Amino acid sequence: MLEIKNLTKQFDGQMIINDFSMIVPDQSITAIVGPSGAGKTTLLRCITGLVKPDSGQFLWQNQIFDPTDHHSQNAIIGSVFQDFQLFPNLTVLKNITLAPTLVHHESLELVTQKAERLLIRLGLGEQKNLYPYQLSGGQKQRVAIVRALAMNPKILCYDEPTSALDPGLRDEVADVILDLQTSGMTQIVVTHDIDFAQKIANKMIQVTALKR
Ligand SMILES: Nc1ncnc2c1ncn2[C@@H]1O[C@H](COP(=O)(O)OP(=O)(O)O)[C@@H](O)[C@H]1O
Ligand SMILES: [Mg+2]
Repeated sequence: MLEIKNLTKQFDGQMIINDFSMIVPDQSITAIVGPSGAGKTTLLRCITGLVKPDSGQFLWQNQIFDPTDHHSQNAIIGSVFQDFQLFPNLTVLKNITLAPTLVHHESLELVTQKAERLLIRLGLGEQKNLYPYQLSGGQKQRVAIVRALAMNPKILCYDEPTSALDPGLRDEVADVILDLQTSGMTQIVVTHDIDFAQKIANKMIQVTALKR
């Protein structure tokens, strides 16, 4: 279980997140929904450790942890970025194996085996030697998901996973997220797309723009 307690974040004196708390049970899908500007991305960046909150606590299985500690072998949170952020000059396989070998110092051979297994599972077995520009949007997103999974996170976070995709691919992403849940992954999905959220989520959390 992930627990977030009393999270607060201001930018330039404006309160973006005001005393936010939530509990994310293991193997659940939590959707964080709300209008543009409500602070969803900021909240997700605090959870994934890309933004340091002004105050608040994160607990994983009742132990306090620091999401900004990205070098830990036991990193808890993984993320799939809204625009995927694949390295354009690296093949699919290299995109996936880079961080586990560089940051976690895992053996290239073992990481490659793991990456190949995950690629096959997400229907990308044929694409491992291609470059990002040779992939469709949906394929790029699945590479970004595999890349996050290769770091063995306990929780996977997505920022607007449907926004960069053709509408027809919405169901495909939903299927990937639901399939990962079946295999045990805990997931947090930020979206402004209520229909999508309703389709996948066990729990929906509404964030509204604060009066400023
Ligand atoms: N790095 C930043 N510096 C200053 N203001 C920011 C920064 N990031 C986000 N904001 C502001 O915080 C508010 C919430 O933004 P964001 O978290 O992106 O909302 P959402 O994802 O719900 O659209 C907006 O008013 C935005 O301008
Ligand atoms: Mg956003």
